[in-house]
Amino acid sequence: MPAMLVSKISAPLNALLAITGLMAVAALTTPDITAPVRFALEMLLAGIWAVYGLQLIGTIILRQMNGVHDAIPAIIIDVLAVLLPLLAFLAISRRDQSLYCAIWLLKPLRQSSFFRMMGKVISNETRNLIGVTSVFGILLFAASLAAYLIERDVQPDRFGSIPQAMWWAVATLSTTGYGDEIPQSLAGRILGGLVMMSGIGVFALWAGILATGFYEEVRRQDFVRNWQMVAAVPLFQKLSPAALIEVVRSLRPRTVPAGAVICRKGDRGDQMYFIVEGSVVVALPSPVRIDSGSFFGEMALITGEPRSATVTAATEVSLLSLYSVDFQILSGSSPEIAEIIRKTALERRQAVPDA
Ligand code: CMP
Repeated sequence: MPAMLVSKISAPLNALLAITGLMAVAALTTPDITAPVRFALEMLLAGIWAVYGLQLIGTIILRQMNGVHDAIPAIIIDVLAVLLPLLAFLAISRRDQSLYCAIWLLKPLRQSSFFRMMGKVISNETRNLIGVTSVFGILLFAASLAAYLIERDVQPDRFGSIPQAMWWAVATLSTTGYGDEIPQSLAGRILGGLVMMSGIGVFALWAGILATGFYEEVRRQDFVRNWQMVAAVPLFQKLSPAALIEVVRSLRPRTVPAGAVICRKGDRGDQMYFIVEGSVVVALPSPVRIDSGSFFGEMALITGEPRSATVTAATEVSLLSLYSVDFQILSGSSPEIAEIIRKTALERRQAVPDA
């Protein structure tokens, strides 16, 4: 339990320490802070460094105990977060010592699932991203070349060479437009307009590739998680892989806290539930407990009648819900499963005393 608590709070704690440390680093670069404030900020950095040091020792001990020998890049951030400020303290002039604590910027990356996902998206989309980056490179060179040819005689000091014109091309393609270099000729201005529009297109492509990549990665992760949940329900273990894929797509995962009402007697029921983990209680004259691996809520779905009883979560339950429309599809693709559900509904219906 304490281990779970530590792992739950360690990510936000790390982020908080990193943010506090980086703010202190930034504040220490302002020239007009007083000596006591400087001392307090330096002590704060030393405190954060000590916490990171203890954390590193704990991580190394845990890795030794659990025999972990992989994932060196993960621990390397922890090592750098301690080592770099220490080396700076020992070897660098006092003025710049605190700057090395900026390595703590990397600390939140260590545990963040977002950054892990971003890494996956970038690696999945590498080919497309390289493609768009190449288009950007081609446009950049073509725009610089055109600007050089058009403007070199008008403004030799700003467009006198292709590398000089490149600064204008980057600022224009990215639609930043610092305004320090402006084409003077009509042709130059027309070129500027075209380059801006091309830049918008390239950035839209980049954004589109990343957005699609994120969407697909989230869907893939959801699918894997749902697959694992579905595989835990014995009823579905009979299904062929193709039918299982259909079921995984149609089931929606949901977690309900202990004590919450999942469906209420008399309500309209448009979905049934499979219990992946935990148990529920059906409020009958002699309450019935339904455990993981089984299902409930099927009676209203099959008969179209209101819910026959109130069902409450006895513990925290992890559920997969199946809507009536998906139940019809499942009945077509896996009639044997639908038959088991129908048979159970009939038996339970017979057991429910008429209200
Ligand atoms: P439904 O009527 O849709 O909603 C309440 C659910 O409680 C019902 O479907 C069944 O899944 C479940 N249920 C009702 N009666 C019994 C019973 N006798 N034994 C087990 N489960 C029941």
